[in-house]
Amino acid sequence: MPEETLSVVDNRTGRRYEIPIRDGAIPATELQKITTDGAGTGMMSYDPAFLNTASCRSAITYIDGERGILRYRGYPIEELADKSSFLEVAYLLIHGELPDPEQAREWVEAITHHTLLHENIKKLIDGFHHDAHPMGILVGTVGALSTFYPDAKDISKAESRRLQILRLIAKMPTLAAFAYRHAIGMPFAYPDSDLSYSGNFLNMMWKATELKYEPNPVLERALDVLLILHADHEQNCSTNVMRAVGSSHADPFSATAAASAALYGPLHGGANEQVLRMLKEIGSISRIPEYVKRVRAGELRLMGFGHRVYKNHDPRARIIKKVADDVLAVTGRSPLLDIALEMERVALADDYFIKHRLYPNVDFYSGIIYAAIGFPVDMFPVLFAIGRTPGWLAQWQEGLLDPEQKIARPRQVYTGPAERHLPGVRQPAAAR
Ligand code: CMC
Repeated sequence: MPEETLSVVDNRTGRRYEIPIRDGAIPATELQKITTDGAGTGMMSYDPAFLNTASCRSAITYIDGERGILRYRGYPIEELADKSSFLEVAYLLIHGELPDPEQAREWVEAITHHTLLHENIKKLIDGFHHDAHPMGILVGTVGALSTFYPDAKDISKAESRRLQILRLIAKMPTLAAFAYRHAIGMPFAYPDSDLSYSGNFLNMMWKATELKYEPNPVLERALDVLLILHADHEQNCSTNVMRAVGSSHADPFSATAAASAALYGPLHGGANEQVLRMLKEIGSISRIPEYVKRVRAGELRLMGFGHRVYKNHDPRARIIKKVADDVLAVTGRSPLLDIALEMERVALADDYFIKHRLYPNVDFYSGIIYAAIGFPVDMFPVLFAIGRTPGWLAQWQEGLLDPEQKIARPRQVYTGPAERHLPGVRQPAAAR
């Protein structure tokens, strides 16, 4: 059996080092042994944006970007999207196993029990401008929840962590729907415990004067599947933020606010919003070639295309295309879908996209479904945040329980000026 080490020769000194390999990775701290003078902090690895650096061990989500594989706790995303509910998937992510029927009943009951918000949160939402972006409201209010639950600071107690996990998964849809109702000047619609997680969200979004809101089962299931597809995606930008903030032992409401803020950006969870704006801007199939020309010229990016990890296809995009068919069969065909389908066809045959290995990602079609269901574009990243919450929480808890984890604190390569002095500051003779 070959030795599990990496031999490194430092050509500056001629010295040779043996670096252990574990699970296909080398511990970056071993590089510190490599020095020119035996002193100082030794060699570092330089990896802006963590292109090839594992920041943790994780047993939650597996991705093989070359082969287009995504699994939660070992289960293929296709099977979960076909057979499970979002809350079962949330349980799986947090606990590591799917719930048995009794565990599922208790889990759903506990989450349903926590959907209400403290009435003061409503006053907070009322303070936002009518045109405030709902993602901004979500970031602000989920962070504010930490002040309502000071017990959330007890991150070392399993019971406290469980309670905050239930609260966060339960309250994110309520915060999101209240943000929307505030924007359109409608009274808040309270949660309905008879409905499913997704059905209740639709209820809080759109219940008007009827005594009982009855969600369309196709749209309810479509939303549930979309939430499943967004539930986790290993160490992406917002999850990395969740873990980093969690590593300082901040409470999970504050960490979720930070993760939501990271998700807000147009290169991450804000992309689905940008896709819809882009399709509207293109406006007709005849204008696609001109748009692609501008992308090729580097003037703009084709939103909903490309992924840091998936280089052949995004398995979530395939599932979403099928969901789009189901939804549009209910809501009626969308001209935007025709533009999107043609854009996909043109892009996949274009040498720029082939060379750069750019394929539709999860966000290319999700916006079309959300729009068909009736969500305004600025709610799209909010929907992503609701779906991603169980993943963030599973990753946050895993990080806290990992004995190898410490407060996140990357190194840097300093490129600023060497020591210098303000005019008139006298230096000791030795320093001159
Ligand atoms: N349109 C046109 N060119 C692109 C695109 C795009 N969507 N994405 C990447 N490229 C080009 C980029 O210009 C660069 O070209 P060159 O090497 O000639 O300079 C090359 O491909 C590599 O790009 P990169 O920015 O270094 O790649 P990355 O891995 O850092 O970025 C990405 C990944 C998702 C940020 C990027 O593909 C992108 O901006 N896509 C559009 C936004 C989007 O759809 N985001 C949602 C991602 S999926 C949901 C989520 O996880 O949040």
